[in-house]
Amino acid sequence: MRKSVKQLLTEIYDGRAEVHLSLYQLSNQHRRKHGRGCDMFPSDPLQAPLWTVLASLTHARRMLEVGCGHGYTAAVMASAGGPDCHVDTIEGEPHHADLAEQAFLERGLSRRIRVLRGRGQNVLPTLKGRYDIVFLDGDWREYPRYIPHLRRLTRPGSIVVTANLNPLFGGWGGRLPGKPAIESYLTSIVGDPHFRTYVIRGEWHSISVRV
Ligand SMILES: C[S@@+](CC[C@H](N)C(=O)[O-])C[C@H]1O[C@@H](n2cnc3c(N)ncnc32)[C@H](O)[C@@H]1O
Repeated sequence: MRKSVKQLLTEIYDGRAEVHLSLYQLSNQHRRKHGRGCDMFPSDPLQAPLWTVLASLTHARRMLEVGCGHGYTAAVMASAGGPDCHVDTIEGEPHHADLAEQAFLERGLSRRIRVLRGRGQNVLPTLKGRYDIVFLDGDWREYPRYIPHLRRLTRPGSIVVTANLNPLFGGWGGRLPGKPAIESYLTSIVGDPHFRTYVIRGEWHSISVRV
C-alpha cells in the first residue's frame, strides 16, 4: 500500500514532528468535548520542524504567539528555541489560558513560557522590546490592527508567521466571516516597506521577514 504524505513526512522527520504531541492530542480532545463554539485547533505537528528552522535562522531568544489554545505550539516554539529562549503567548479565553498554564507547569516550561491573558488587539499595545519570531494564530478579524505592533515589536531579521488565511483562499473556514480582514492584512503587509512577505499556497500561512 502506498504511504500517505503524512506517513512519509513523519518518517522523514524521524521524531521531530512528535515533540509535545501529548499537548496536540489534549487540544483536540478539549475542542471535541466543547463542540462548535470552541476554536482550539492546534497547528499541524508536521509544522513542528518549521519552528526549529525559524529559531535557527533568527537566533531566537524571544518569541510571541497570539492564540495560545492549550499551549501546543508555544511549547514546540520554546523547545525549538532551546533553554535560553522565552515565549510570550496571548490567550483571550480564560479557560484556555488556565489549561495552558497548567500544561506548562507539568512539563517544566513555566519559567520559559508566559501566558498573557486578553485579546491580541488589547495585549499587543502593552508589549515592549523586540521579538525574533511572531506567530499569529487567533481571530483573523483582528489581524489588520496588529500591523503597527508587528513593526514595533520586531527587528530586521525577525519573522512573522500568520496562520488562518484559509477563510479567504479556501480549504476549511470557507464560510467563516472575516475575509475582508484577511485580504486587508495581507495587502498591507505585502506592501509594507518594513516586511517582505510570502503566502504559502495550500498551507495558507504567510511568512513575513522584517527588513
Ligand atoms: C487556533 S487556536 C490556537 C492554537 C495554538 N496556536 C496551537 O497551535 O496549539 C486559537 C486560540 O486562540 C484564542 N484566540 C482567538 N482569537 C484570539 C484573540 N484575538 N486574542 C487572543 N486569543 C485568541 C482562542 O481562544 C483559541 O484558544
